[in-house]
Amino acid sequence: MLPMRPATPDEAALHERARDAARSAHAPYSGLAVGAALRVSGVAEPVLGVNVENASFGLTSCAERNAVFAAVTMGHRDFEAIAVHADADSVAPCGACRQVLAEFSPELTVVYSRRGSLIAASLEELLPERFVL
Ligand code: THU
Repeated sequence: MLPMRPATPDEAALHERARDAARSAHAPYSGLAVGAALRVSGVAEPVLGVNVENASFGLTSCAERNAVFAAVTMGHRDFEAIAVHADADSVAPCGACRQVLAEFSPELTVVYSRRGSLIAASLEELLPERFVL
């Protein structure tokens, strides 16, 4: 299991893509624009996602899950890393998104800001006992 460590320059570049994507977020209720950039094996461009909120709050969909669903729709299943950005000191993916990410790539690297530092952790470290069938 990869221990939590500082992000590499490549991972920081992926995080920049998540930051750019966050500008497209639809977050009028929370005010927190979240962007995700998903690195797919063998594909140059990351697949992006943003959070999409709704007046019926429970219908909100997170940036990370939207990136995964877009990638799967495009025919991708093999993910190497995901970066998530929001304008906050700590922005780890929520539990629901961890479970969805683990469905496809339990070995995934997750890049996010933790108390102001950009770090990389393995998904296994963030979700050691995922639900499996
Ligand atoms: N959000 C994400 O997009 N990803 C996460 O991992 C956690 C939360 C969004 C959902 C909602 O639009 C806003 O952040 C505040 O919870």
